[in-house]
Amino acid sequence: MPRWNTVQHHSANYQKQKLATEFSVPIWSQGYIILQSRWSVMYFDLSKFALFHWYKEQIYGTLISGEIVRFNVVESYLLELYFESDSCSNLRSKLISLGLTANETEKFIAKFLNNNENFLSLQDCAYSLPMITGEKGKSYPLEFHVSLTNKCFLKCKHCYKGDILKPKELDFNKLVDFLNHFIGKVPLITLSGGEPTLYRHFNELIDELSKNFLISFSTSGFKIAPKKGNALIELGRNVQVSLYYDNPLEHDSFTQVKGSFKSTTNFIRSCIARGHQVSVTTLFQNDTKKLYDTIAYCAQLGVSNVAVGEITNIGRASNQHFYAKDFTRVVNNAKRDFENIIPIYFEEQGENLQLSCLGCIAGTLLWSIFEDGDIYGCGIGKIDYMKIGTINELPIEQISDNSSFLERMQIATGTSNGSNRVQCPFKK
Ligand SMILES: C[S@@+](CC[C@H](N)C(=O)[O-])C[C@H]1O[C@@H](n2cnc3c(N)ncnc32)[C@H](O)[C@@H]1O
Ligand code: SF4
Repeated sequence: MPRWNTVQHHSANYQKQKLATEFSVPIWSQGYIILQSRWSVMYFDLSKFALFHWYKEQIYGTLISGEIVRFNVVESYLLELYFESDSCSNLRSKLISLGLTANETEKFIAKFLNNNENFLSLQDCAYSLPMITGEKGKSYPLEFHVSLTNKCFLKCKHCYKGDILKPKELDFNKLVDFLNHFIGKVPLITLSGGEPTLYRHFNELIDELSKNFLISFSTSGFKIAPKKGNALIELGRNVQVSLYYDNPLEHDSFTQVKGSFKSTTNFIRSCIARGHQVSVTTLFQNDTKKLYDTIAYCAQLGVSNVAVGEITNIGRASNQHFYAKDFTRVVNNAKRDFENIIPIYFEEQGENLQLSCLGCIAGTLLWSIFEDGDIYGCGIGKIDYMKIGTINELPIEQISDNSSFLERMQIATGTSNGSNRVQCPFKK
């Protein structure tokens, strides 16, 4: 594995100036807790985090649960200092050497812990730091979503890929060359499609990428060839399987392929029987009872969590008029009702981060590579102003610094004038 740590080392003078600037941010304005503990024996407990990622001047923490947490600029700076210090006592000395009094230092750290109490605390033994990716000041994504091929066995009624007129798949060497430029910078790759296991070089690709990236899969779980299924299962990483109903009649009618429920649920069972975690992706289509039945069925199968998505009316879905009324409310209720049974997530969790004028992470923390090699902000469809480049485009630096991307989106969506949010073009 590469060294992921990209913490920057600045001169003491630079740090002093930066701290002085950042102290003017009203982080102090609310109440704070006073630490009761003895500094010399304390460490940050970062065990809920899978990794930290720099995007521009901020750190994004990916929790083990998959949720992304954004630290503001001041908090990111404090974390940066902590990564360099490796213990609270060293952090304290560092802050004092930068000009803070002991009292201010304690308030600063206490406030930071207070702001993030749901996932951060103190502990009295050293804990190895999670990996740190990205690069401060640069805009490397946290994740590549890769559509390996548009080929698929199923014909799901809602599929945004639409009817496949011409089968396409990514060139293996070009893809690997491209992704290798991002080793240590971009940690996560989701392999999707179409059906990713129909990609001719699937096993080879997993061997190649798993050395340097954390890989997850989005699959229908239908008719997966044993060799490919094994490669997928053996990797032991997150397998996301799509399952739409709790019974063969409705699921097969939705995927338009008889036997798909049986094959998919057998795949889920075989992963679980071999001790691997499976997440199910399902959809809410305006029938709360059916959603609840599907979630209950997933719990019964032993699935680790359920992600609930909303249908975007494009591709094959555009003729179907799917419309999920009160999606957010229903998913929140399901989360509450299944609280002690199975974790439920919104697929669109990135929306809370609102990194772009579209209110999501497309094109910023998430880039999508299509089966023809094009890179767009969002994998659902191609819109000119969301184009980032292609995997054939070198030098890579031209696209790895995609700072012009947000600007282009603002101009195209008419949000440069200060109105900072428009509706997602795929959700209209
Ligand atoms: C395009 S599929 C590719 C991977 C694999 N074939 C599968 O079905 O899981 C990835 C995910 O996108 C979802 N999806 C497809 N079309 C969609 C649409 N129009 N709106 C929302 N989600 C969609 C699928 O349900 C699936 O969970
Ligand atoms: S949603 Fe997945 S399984 Fe269904 S048709 Fe689309 S690519 Fe195939």
